[in-house]
Amino acid sequence: MRFLKGKDYKDASRKAANIISAQIIMKPNCVLGLATGSSPIGAYNQLIDWYKKGDLDFSEVSTINLDEYKGLSGEHKQSYRYFMNTNLFNHVNIEKSKTFVPDGLAEDDDKECARYNEIIKSRGIDLQLLGLGHNGHIGFNEPDDAFEKETHIVKLSENTILANSRLFKEVSQVPRYAFTMGIKNIMQARKIVVIVSGVDKADIVKEVFFGPVTPKVPGSILQMHNDVTVIGDEAAFSKIS
Ligand code: F6R
Repeated sequence: MRFLKGKDYKDASRKAANIISAQIIMKPNCVLGLATGSSPIGAYNQLIDWYKKGDLDFSEVSTINLDEYKGLSGEHKQSYRYFMNTNLFNHVNIEKSKTFVPDGLAEDDDKECARYNEIIKSRGIDLQLLGLGHNGHIGFNEPDDAFEKETHIVKLSENTILANSRLFKEVSQVPRYAFTMGIKNIMQARKIVVIVSGVDKADIVKEVFFGPVTPKVPGSILQMHNDVTVIGDEAAFSKIS
């Protein structure tokens, strides 16, 4: 596992964007596993900037997102499809038909999970980008008694609902369920890049990367992957350096 420390969030985001752009340059038709949330926004902005300067080409890139709220359509402003469109896809030359996010409105949960697993398996993820929840979740794999392997429906923990309510008018509007890739889906990515920022992530960064590997701290499984780069600002790394 490699740790790359940026002076601040902007610097850390640039380091993450560097790795993603290197991936795209080395393999123009690569498959990127993407995350939403606050952590990757700086990296997405940097990628958009480099694309606008003519240094990056997304025309052959495919993307597969980690998760989506159940019950929200892609047009809903808090849906992860909407997030991806507005924070990255609408600003670069990616083909939308090659960008995958679980369908929050799917009627049959099992069918949607099977469809999404097939998308992941048939393509294979070259580089998976992750953020880290305060409880150690990756994607929406919440603390549990066992690691869930493949795409599944998850009941969000109170902790996650509260953390995500900052983007909704009130807590009651935050969906209670989500579709998420499973731990096996994530661990099968060839390369993993985790972005963390802010002092509020300092404790969980220590627990996830230096504590015991346990499904009670889902991100701790990343210790078993052979190509993980954790990129953070000084605040997020303050308990490990
Ligand atoms: C987002 C996702 C989540 C977030 C995590 C951290 O697609 O899967 O695991 O990465 O909740 O969120 P932020 O970056 O907002 O702190």
